[in-house]
Amino acid sequence: MRIVSGIQPTGNLHLGNYLGAIRNWVRMQDENAAAGGDTLFFLADMHAITVYNDPATLTANTREMAAALIAAGIDPAKAVLFNQARVPAHAELCWLLNGTARIGWLNRMTQFKEKSGKNRESASVGLFAYPVLQAADVLLYKATHVPVGEDQKQHLELARDVATKFNTDYGVELFTLPEPIIPPAAARIMSLRDGSAKMSKSDPSDMARINLTDDADLIAQKVRKAKTDPEPLPEDIGGLDGRPEARNLIGIYAALTDATPAAVLAEHAGKGFGQFKAILAERLIETLAPIRARFETLKQDPAEIDRLLAVGAARAAELAAPTLAGTYAALGL
Ligand code: ADP
Ligand code: NA
Repeated sequence: MRIVSGIQPTGNLHLGNYLGAIRNWVRMQDENAAAGGDTLFFLADMHAITVYNDPATLTANTREMAAALIAAGIDPAKAVLFNQARVPAHAELCWLLNGTARIGWLNRMTQFKEKSGKNRESASVGLFAYPVLQAADVLLYKATHVPVGEDQKQHLELARDVATKFNTDYGVELFTLPEPIIPPAAARIMSLRDGSAKMSKSDPSDMARINLTDDADLIAQKVRKAKTDPEPLPEDIGGLDGRPEARNLIGIYAALTDATPAAVLAEHAGKGFGQFKAILAERLIETLAPIRARFETLKQDPAEIDRLLAVGAARAAELAAPTLAGTYAALGL
């Protein structure tokens, strides 16, 4: 399989990002490398500029996301990691495909409708054409498989339509039709202060979230102060009804240990949360401390992050070159 996946560069990464996203990419990379496939991960900085982004923050977030991915196990020897802006073939192919993509197709994209809302006329052209860049991102590498969430399925379908129409219009067998892979249901981590809100970088309370930069003492403190209730851990999942904070702590422990919440309860039923939080904190620290150490070291060396991204970009450009040349040739350019 050749898997291509884009990731928005975000800063202030937290436990939700790690358990809900980053860890799955590492697994995908490992499985595909073991099966002899190629995996390409790009930081979607060219997508990020379809809305205004503070330039210095975008640069910093791109480096931070790259550092977090490498610290968490994305291995430049197993996967190609780069940022889109450093591989101009993405922007080039996007323009070349703009002659094939239809306005009617883009008009049907529900994500554009959601993001532009009532202000369609003042949305950027880039936000509208975003799916064409996404099509270029995967067609460029003749991706066979693209991991997509429910909200991205329509965009992958559009990439297939663009590929089919281009191949037909120009009488070539250039583009491969990528298949979706639906990633396994990821953990959804909630705030430590409110079990009904998602753990998020935009939560104003730092105590509500465990950051990838938190040290062991701070992690222990945040878990100790996490909101719970006075009841002990129940024997089964049903006993978590109406107890979102308790459910969240069990869910975090389950995700960390690759167990089901039911199995966690089977092992720890009857313990009070005081005792369980200590066990959870220990496990969190065990998982996060080595990631934090690598993350902090890398973050202090932006030149090294840029070097690793440049190596990835050079490899990506090499893989992209034949498709890009084939596209120019097919168009008579
Ligand atoms: P935030 O909500 O902090 O702004 P992003 O929207 O930047 O996070 O999400 C980046 C990635 O991390 C996405 O793949 C998203 O699904 C995942 N993610 C973010 N928060 C959580 C969470 N609380 N639980 C699980 N996954 C999450
Ligand atoms: Na968000």
